[in-house]
Amino acid sequence: MKHYTSIYDIDNINSWIEEAKAIKTNPFKHIQLGKNKTLGLLFFNSSLRTRLSTQKAALNLGMNPIVMNVSGDAWGIEFGDGTVMNGSTAEHIKEAAAVVSQYCDVIAVRAFPTLKNKAKDESEQVMNAFKKYASVPIVNMESATGHPLQGLTDALTISEYAKVTKPKVVLSWAPHIKALPHAVANSFIQAMQKMDVEFVITNPEGYDLNPEITKNTPIYHNQEEAFKNADFVYAKNWSSYEDYGKVNKTDSNWMITKAKLGGAKFMHCLPVRRNVVVEDAVLDSDSSLVIEQANNRTYAAQLVLKKLLEDL
Ligand code: CP
Repeated sequence: MKHYTSIYDIDNINSWIEEAKAIKTNPFKHIQLGKNKTLGLLFFNSSLRTRLSTQKAALNLGMNPIVMNVSGDAWGIEFGDGTVMNGSTAEHIKEAAAVVSQYCDVIAVRAFPTLKNKAKDESEQVMNAFKKYASVPIVNMESATGHPLQGLTDALTISEYAKVTKPKVVLSWAPHIKALPHAVANSFIQAMQKMDVEFVITNPEGYDLNPEITKNTPIYHNQEEAFKNADFVYAKNWSSYEDYGKVNKTDSNWMITKAKLGGAKFMHCLPVRRNVVVEDAVLDSDSSLVIEQANNRTYAAQLVLKKLLEDL
């Protein structure tokens, strides 16, 4: 594997899940693999889980992680081709990516969307520029349209906690006060489409996600209908895709409650706003898998880094 920037970089999700479980059982087995190798983590946006779990994954493989908050700490990076750089940007991605490639054997990047310019966001300008101008593998730590480390984590978690051969998994939109990206939902959808699960999406009208991602996955605009016989409910807010980046609905009718959840397990990528997205009674119950999910971030990242190191 040259890069890990999309769920579509996973050739066989079942074998990846089995390998991730093996890593979880014996996390230091491959500690020699990353000896004298450096992982650079570049954050254009905030993070808790991704930042720490990806560093921990690197350490478990014997790698040396180095971290930079690009927005604020680094020179402003220009991504446009042929730009006259007499504005706020001081360094072009051509030089920046080439320079960081000399310090790092793998570069991991987090860069969120604008949620204002759909075409720009869908071009994955930052991630693709790193792929183009860096000379080392690139890992997507959440980009404009995808969060494949989270999607792999979620697939692993569902595999661990499934009690039936083909569980019913529901991705449910939930309310939020801010305009949030589509990346987590997109990668979760792509991961579930690769798995042997009964998968449906539920969201209010006006919140259907990119049809090129949802494909033929059933979409319910009635949450109660979608939740029937669910084994897993994965909650996530996203801003409107149709009315791009807008927050047109914030009422609490779509919040996940214990009554709605029934016997299903609750999942969320975190961070989560309590009693806005999901009520305390869910998060504080045995139904919640959110802490287990966050733990699995390490092993998903470790599997990805292992595969990249093996192919260096
Ligand atoms: N789930 C997730 O990516 O968390 P952070 O934004 O804290 O990294």
